[in-house]
Amino acid sequence: MRIGILTSGGDCPGINATIRGVCKTAMNYYGMEVCGIHNGFRGLIDNEIAPLNEDSLSGLLNMGGTILGTSREKPFKKRINAMSEDKPAMMLQNIRNNKLDCIVCIGGNGTQKTAYKLAEAGVNVISIPKTIDNDVWGTDISFGFDSAVSIATEAIDRLHSTATSHQRVMVIEVMGHKAGWIALYSGMAGGGDIILLPEIPFDIHCIGDTIINRLKKGKPYSIVVVAEGIPTIGGKKAAQYIAEEIEYETGFETRETVLGYIQRGGSPTAFDRNLATRMGGHATELIAQKQFGRMISLQGSNITSVPLEEVSGKLKLVTENHDLILQGRRMGICFG
Ligand code: F6P
Repeated sequence: MRIGILTSGGDCPGINATIRGVCKTAMNYYGMEVCGIHNGFRGLIDNEIAPLNEDSLSGLLNMGGTILGTSREKPFKKRINAMSEDKPAMMLQNIRNNKLDCIVCIGGNGTQKTAYKLAEAGVNVISIPKTIDNDVWGTDISFGFDSAVSIATEAIDRLHSTATSHQRVMVIEVMGHKAGWIALYSGMAGGGDIILLPEIPFDIHCIGDTIINRLKKGKPYSIVVVAEGIPTIGGKKAAQYIAEEIEYETGFETRETVLGYIQRGGSPTAFDRNLATRMGGHATELIAQKQFGRMISLQGSNITSVPLEEVSGKLKLVTENHDLILQGRRMGICFG
């Protein structure tokens, strides 16, 4: 068999470990050939496809980013007019020309949608969920998340000492447009006093009360962890908006930090390396068994798979009854 592999959407730690997991299993164990498709679905449209060999797989386990490059190309988006590229047709042609029996798509929610459409168009597809946001439906965890949480937690740890020294409120903004998984996990692990997620509406008066109550208990400093996707007014960034509101509400000197792309860069944690390796291996097993149209998934401690049809178009959001939220509330942490 001849596999094509691509990475699409935002990068994250662990992608290269997955590429390695797929390719080494395919080449060493099943005797398959693997071709790298460069720059996501854009490369499939433009025929940027080249064979991978053992040499190209060295040093990948701990390497951040993706050796294949990525793009946010959405090839099934409606054509603007009859003159514009027929991207689905171009992809199908390139799959045929390169004699690819199957395409492995590594990506987040957008990628799962495209992978499903490709499967509907008759292509043998296996997808693997990756995103630091952890919002892909159908898997308990996507690789990249643990690395991002570790980076954000270390940043929060570092803010504690400067917050206490200056008796300030420190607001830190982490990634997560629709889902607050990084804010929840890093906020709890980093000992945040207030944690704001897109999924839970907040009241600035409650936030102010939490900060004032802490002062009354002899703690004239607070750490506020906010997801980038919380609602704000006037198009302000989450951290800036919350910091200004806190200063206005409490009179406390407040500073903001936006962590940004640091969360997505660099080496994956050991957990992410192993998750990525296991997912890559399972993807190749499914290909060998000719079970296509599925996304690899972690359920509990098992690696399994779910039909792409079930995943496409859905988001996995934090729910108010998540045990970290319930436990946080019991300990006096404010979620809005
Ligand atoms: O990878 C997911 C994500 O990190 C989001 O949390 C973030 O808002 C988005 O990607 C931004 O990525 P880009 O600027 O590459 O579109």
